[in-house]
Amino acid sequence: MKVLVIGSGGREHAIVDALTRSPQVEKIYCAPGNAGIARQAECVDIRDTEVERLRDFARGEGIGLTVVGPEAALAAGIVDSFREAGLRIFGPTKAAARIESSKEFAKDLMARYGIPTAGYRAFTDYEAARAYVAARPFPAVLKYDGLAAGKGVVIAQTMEEADEALRQMLLDDKFGEGKVVVEDFLEGPEFSLLCFVSGRRVWPMVLSQDHKRAYDGDKGPNTGGMGAYTPLPFITADDERYAIERIMRPMAEAMVAEGCPFAGVLYGGLMKTADGIKVIEFNARFGDPETEVVLPRLKSDIVDIFCAVADGRDAQLEWDDRPALGIVLASKGYPGSYEKGHEIKGLDKVEGTVYHMGTKADGDRILTAGGRVLFVVGRGATLSEARAAALRDVARIECDNLFHRSDIGHWALDDKDL
Ligand code: AMP
Ligand code: GLY
Repeated sequence: MKVLVIGSGGREHAIVDALTRSPQVEKIYCAPGNAGIARQAECVDIRDTEVERLRDFARGEGIGLTVVGPEAALAAGIVDSFREAGLRIFGPTKAAARIESSKEFAKDLMARYGIPTAGYRAFTDYEAARAYVAARPFPAVLKYDGLAAGKGVVIAQTMEEADEALRQMLLDDKFGEGKVVVEDFLEGPEFSLLCFVSGRRVWPMVLSQDHKRAYDGDKGPNTGGMGAYTPLPFITADDERYAIERIMRPMAEAMVAEGCPFAGVLYGGLMKTADGIKVIEFNARFGDPETEVVLPRLKSDIVDIFCAVADGRDAQLEWDDRPALGIVLASKGYPGSYEKGHEIKGLDKVEGTVYHMGTKADGDRILTAGGRVLFVVGRGATLSEARAAALRDVARIECDNLFHRSDIGHWALDDKDL
């Protein structure tokens, strides 16, 4: 089978890598891919949201399976378009992807189907939102919900901070269609539960945890994720069962009942609070960088799983017990402004796995080309060994413009040796 992967980051590199382990795969294409992916797949110069060009390419090349990485492609309706053309594709329709693209849609569904999450109210009016926030305890959690993505989540400690965020989200909104969801503030360790979902069928993957802050000790600005690991010793088997049976499965069933059945990866961003496990957010795709530690532990043939989800059949998942821990090498300055084009050396000395997140080839040279550049995965008999392996490989990579966190996994590990 010929397979096409859509996207260009570490997540897509991990998907391509998993596909190379399947005996069913004859050839892998990736659009647009990156310099690391190019060593394992043929990169095609089409952007992830150019739906018609991607569909024409898939038809022209006789692609038997397309796998979508990024949310932007899902929100652009790539799955609907491929399905209309009779092409097999792994991912949710535009309607089902609203579980990620619209916070209000997700919150409303959780409320109606009794799925535990932070209490919330949605506002379009600035004055009403301001009065509501002023009358409640701080910190206040404010989430922008509208066409202009990227304004994200603000956790305001004071009324001044909340007011500034509400002004930006509701008064300065160019599109005039913005909404703000104001949520109760929750506390506890966060974790990610990614599940393959096909209608009512739910196949959980192994648990993982992302590290969103830029610097050691969970300090500094929020990023797309600076590292991840699996498994999670602080989440018990009972917690995991609760998350699957009371959160992920009811959500899959709710989407069927609402007439927009989900197919693809349903990502639960969950928090273990003193009051039980609650949903922080749902995503409609593989998490990044969680995927880069979860898929290396998958022993089953991933093509069987992708096809079972797309075709609505049963599948079996088998996992390797050995922990995986991965560290992001990011450009200095990220998540703010940063330079590109710095040469990376020493990749041939690495003993474990490196997934490319943002790189470009220049002849034989590999150059930095993004905020997050490389993801270095360590394996071991324990998480502590996995981290030591990852840090050894990080030290083998030479580049004058990269930084990383040394404390990935600190929720699970004793960090006094660092
Ligand atoms: P989100 O984009 O919804 O995942 O939010 C980004 C981050 O904000 C999460 O990973 C949490 O750390 C934090 N966050 C979101 N919602 C809440 C909440 N209700 N209470 C506390 N922290 C939150
Ligand atoms: N790791 C967070 C995300 O993929 O959204």
